Amino acid sequence: MPDADGLKEAKKYFSDIPQKTEGFFLKGSNSLDWGMKNRLARIFNPKSGRTVMLAIDHGYFQGPTTGLERIDLNILPLVPHADTLMLTRGILRSIVPPSTTQSIVLRVSGGTSILKELSNEEIAVDIEDSMRLNVCAMAVQVFIGGEYEKESIINMTRMVDQGTRYGIPTLAVTAVGKDMARDARYFRLATRICAELGANYIKTYYIEGGFETVTSSCPVPIVMAGGKKISEKDALHMAYNAVNQGAAGVDMGRNIFQSEDPVAMIQAVKAVVHDNENPEMAYDLYNSLKNQ
Ligand code: R5P
Repeated sequence: MPDADGLKEAKKYFSDIPQKTEGFFLKGSNSLDWGMKNRLARIFNPKSGRTVMLAIDHGYFQGPTTGLERIDLNILPLVPHADTLMLTRGILRSIVPPSTTQSIVLRVSGGTSILKELSNEEIAVDIEDSMRLNVCAMAVQVFIGGEYEKESIINMTRMVDQGTRYGIPTLAVTAVGKDMARDARYFRLATRICAELGANYIKTYYIEGGFETVTSSCPVPIVMAGGKKISEKDALHMAYNAVNQGAAGVDMGRNIFQSEDPVAMIQAVKAVVHDNENPEMAYDLYNSLKNQ
C-alpha cells in the first residue's frame, strides 16, 4: 500500500482535454463487452481491421489431411506469420507450445467423420475448456440447407449464449453440402442467418459474382475460407478479391499448408490481406521467398 504520509497534491487533471470515447474498429461489434472486443482485437489486427487465420482443424472430421500429417514439423514454422490459429483442442494441447502468442480460435463442434453424414454435429467442447485454453473465439459449423440444418444452427446459438456470458466470440463456419449451389444467393442466406442468430463473425467461401452482396448484407465481419487447393497465383487473386469486396481477412488452410512452399505462401497471403498488396506483386513475393 502506498504511504499515506507526504502525499503530493494531484494536479494533472487536464480539464481542458475531453476523455476520448473510441468506437470499436470492427464491423457490427461496437456494442459488445470489453472482453469480447479484446479477444476480437487479438484475431483481427486493429491497424488493418483484417486477419490471417491459419485453419488446421481439418483432422476433426477427416483425420491426417495432406499437409497436416505432422503438425509439429509442417505447421509450427508457419505460426509466427499468422494472426490466429484455428484448430482443435487435441492439437493445441499436444503440439502447440503454450508460449505461442498468436490468438487461438478453437473448433468446438464435431462428432462426425467423412464416413457418415457430416451435418450431424454436436457441440464437442465445453466452454469451460475454451476458457481454460484462453481462446479468442469458438468455431461452430453451420449447415444451412443440410440434413441437420436446425441442429447445427442450435449448436451455434448455444455457443453464442455461452460465449456472450463469458466474453468469448463465436465464429460461425458455413458448410456447403456437395449438391448445393455455391452462389451469392446461398451465401447471403447462410451468412445472414448466422449473423441474425448472434454469431460474432462468419467464415464463408469466396464466389465469383456477387461476393460483395454477401459481405454488405452481413452485419458482422466475414472471413474468407480458402477451400480446396488451387494454384498459388489463383489463391492470391481470390484472397485479394475477397478483401477488396468486403471480407475482413481470410481463414485459409489447404491453400497455405498444401502449397509448394507454405512459409512463402502465408507471407504472400499476409501481404495481400494486411498491406493490400496486389496479387501479382504478392505472387512475386511468394516466388522470391520460395527461391531464397
Ligand atoms: C473445415 O471444415 C475446416 O473448418 C477448415 O478450417 C476450413 O475448411 C478452411 O480450410 P480450407 O482453407 O482448407 O478450406
